[in-house]
Amino acid sequence: MNNQEKIVGKETIPHSRPTLGPQEAKAVSAVIESGYIAEGEIVNTFESAFAKFLGVEYATSTNSGTSALHLTLLAMGVGQGDEVIIPSYVCSALLNAVNYTGATPILADINPDTYNLNAADVQRFIKKSTKAIIVPHLFGLAADMEPLLELEVPIVEDCAQSIGATHHQRPVGLFGVAGIFSFYATKVITTGEGGMVTTNSSDIAARIRDLKAYDKREDYKIRFNYKMTDIQAALGIVQLKQLRSFIRRRKKIAEGYNRAFYDLRLKLPPTDTGQIYFRYVLDLKMDSRPWIQELARMGITCDRPIHFPLHQNLKLGGYPATEKAWKQSLSIPIYPTLTDEEISRVIESVTRCCEKFANFI
Ligand SMILES: Cc1ncc(COP(=O)(O)O)c(C=O)c1O
Repeated sequence: MNNQEKIVGKETIPHSRPTLGPQEAKAVSAVIESGYIAEGEIVNTFESAFAKFLGVEYATSTNSGTSALHLTLLAMGVGQGDEVIIPSYVCSALLNAVNYTGATPILADINPDTYNLNAADVQRFIKKSTKAIIVPHLFGLAADMEPLLELEVPIVEDCAQSIGATHHQRPVGLFGVAGIFSFYATKVITTGEGGMVTTNSSDIAARIRDLKAYDKREDYKIRFNYKMTDIQAALGIVQLKQLRSFIRRRKKIAEGYNRAFYDLRLKLPPTDTGQIYFRYVLDLKMDSRPWIQELARMGITCDRPIHFPLHQNLKLGGYPATEKAWKQSLSIPIYPTLTDEEISRVIESVTRCCEKFANFI
C-alpha cells in the first residue's frame, strides 16, 4: 500500500480514542441547563459511586491524576528532606508530583516481564528518609504487590492506567495507603481531565479535602484549586457505569491480537486474568522507531507506550530493564470503539511489518 492509497481509501487508525456517546452528551447538557457547573452535588454522587465500585471508604475527586498524586503525598506528610521511590519507566507526572512536594524522587528499575516496579531493585534504594513508594500498575496490569508490601514503606498505588484491574482477584487501589486514578481523555474511563484518590484512612481523606480547595477559610496555609467540576463528574458517572463493558471489549480485542500474533517472533504482553489491557504492548526485540514509521505509512498510529524514561531526563545511568523496554516496546491501538475492520487492519499491518523486519528480530 502506498501513501496515496491510504489517503484515498482508508482513514488513519488513531493510537487511542475516548469512548463517548449520546448518554454522555445528555448528562453534560443537563448540568449546563441546571446552571450549576462548578463542584457540587454531581461531584459528590460521582465520588460515592466510585467508592462503592472500588469497595473503599473514601474517594476524593481532583482535577487530574497528577494533582491526586500531589495531594496524596502532601497528606502523607511528604516534603523537603524526604525521598519517594518511583520507577524510571513511567510518565513524568510522577516526577512532577514528587518534585511539587519538595521531596527527592529516587528512580528504580522495572521487572522486564511485567513493566512494573522490581521490588528487589526498589529495596536497594530504601533508607531512613524514604517516605513513600509510588507503585504504578502499568498498561492495565497489576504490579506484584506482595514483595513491594514486604518492604514496609507506605505505598501509593498509581492506578491511572488500571481502573478495574485486579491482583489475586482484589481490585488495584486497595493494597496501599491510597490509590490514585486519572480520567484523562484517553484513559479507560474519562472526564476530559480529572482524577480521584481512594483510601480507607479518614485522616488522609480529610487532609486531601482540606488541601484541594482554598475558598472560604479562616486559617491560612498553602492550599490548591484542584477541584473537579459537576460537568466532569456527570461524564464520570456515565463512564463508570460502562466500565465493565469497556474492559470486556478491551480483553476481547487483546485475545484476538494474542491469537493473531502467537506465531510471530514477538514477545506478547503478559497474560494475567486481572489485566485490563489499557495498552497492548509488544516487545519487538529491536528498536520500535522504524516500526512506528512503517505502521504510520500503513495508516496505523502506534507509539512507544512510555515517551521517554525518567532516568534519561535526570541523566542517570544503570536502568537496563527500563532502557530496553523503552527502546523495544510498541503500543498498538486498543480501545472499545476499535471496529472489527480496524482490528483486522492492525493485525495485517503488524504481520507485514514483522515480515519486513524479520532480519532484525
Ligand atoms: C501512570 C500514570 N500516572 C499518572 C498520570 C497522570 O495523570 P493525569 O494526566 O490525569 O495528570 C498518568 C497520565 O498519563 C499516568 O499514565
